[in-house]
Amino acid sequence: MNIGIIGTGSIARTICKTLNTLKDPEIVLYACASRREEKSKLFAEENNIKHFYGSYEAMLKDSNVDLVYIATPHSEHYKHIKMSLEHNKNVLCEKPLCVNYKQAEAMFKLADEKKLLLQEAFWTRFTPASKYLKTLMASFNNVSQVKITFGMYLKHIKRLSNPSLAGGALLDLGVYPISMAMNLLGNDCQLTDLKYHLLKTGVDKDDDITLIFNNKTIVNIRISMAKPMFSNFTLKAENGSLKVKGINLHKKAEVNFNNHVTKVNFNNIVNGYEYQFIKVKEALKNNLLQCQEMTKEDSLAILKVLDEIRKKENIVYPFEKLNYGL
Ligand SMILES: NC(=O)c1ccc[n+]([C@@H]2O[C@H](COP(=O)([O-])OP(=O)(O)OC[C@H]3O[C@@H](n4cnc5c(N)ncnc54)[C@H](OP(=O)(O)O)[C@@H]3O)[C@@H](O)[C@H]2O)c1
Repeated sequence: MNIGIIGTGSIARTICKTLNTLKDPEIVLYACASRREEKSKLFAEENNIKHFYGSYEAMLKDSNVDLVYIATPHSEHYKHIKMSLEHNKNVLCEKPLCVNYKQAEAMFKLADEKKLLLQEAFWTRFTPASKYLKTLMASFNNVSQVKITFGMYLKHIKRLSNPSLAGGALLDLGVYPISMAMNLLGNDCQLTDLKYHLLKTGVDKDDDITLIFNNKTIVNIRISMAKPMFSNFTLKAENGSLKVKGINLHKKAEVNFNNHVTKVNFNNIVNGYEYQFIKVKEALKNNLLQCQEMTKEDSLAILKVLDEIRKKENIVYPFEKLNYGL
């Protein structure tokens, strides 16, 4: 599987390091594309990539690229997914897949029509730790409460405070706890309470989100891009409890069933980012257009919640004012 990367920023660099360490002969870092040729050349040299392009379109015209990995700001995902699908490329796109439900729905429709894979790069869903936690859920009776906290100081990163790039805590950080709750409890949830603060730029700085899952489990999520918080998950059920350290990268868990406690440490082949590529490779080999770890329905369910929260916060990104940014 020859991968072509769109965008040469921070996460693109992390992914290159991951794949260069993984050394899977069937997952090839084939090309990168930047809006500037010099930047692309340097990125290719630094990351051991064979081909580089000075525009995204130029890379999309390379018939050897099997999978495009989109690593651009949220505001650009819709445009870059569309371009890639129109060039008949399979796509793995950074989270969130698009900035709103309507954009993502349109892109899944296009991918279906073209019979191409469109996969959200929700890496944490693909880890063995996520799978382990999901299998535990069948043994918990009547989960009543979940609490998740996830915060780090990211205010200084320009992309994150810029409404034109769809910045804010929700789209960068909030997607992780929402996805984790959905992975464990399913996609059926309603927003019941919300408190938040905005940055001067108009995007959300911190959010205190309460959701009810399956009409019975109260999930409270607190996120912040202005202050560090413990990256913790706790769940209470009739017959036990679960504590997880690490909301995006699950590091360890403490499972209590009827007062019998088990402690687990999670390890990865490299750093956790590798599994999404391994699963996409397998999907493409088997002519599947999505991975079961993170389906089209899962991506849309997260965006439905994000849309609802943003509506209550009155956050409309500038490019959305015109026809939802489509
Ligand atoms: N999975 C994770 O752990 C993780 C971590 C961080 C971020 N992310 C996600 O990855 C995506 C990118 O985040 P990042 O932190 O890597 O961003 P970043 O460092 O700002 O890099 C984004 C890259 O996108 C390209 N780009 C295209 N249009 C742009 C525009 N209008 N303004 C700025 N850059 C533009 C640029 O590459 P060229 O100049 O080469 O064209 C830029 O280097 C986001 O969706 C984010 O949520 C994921």
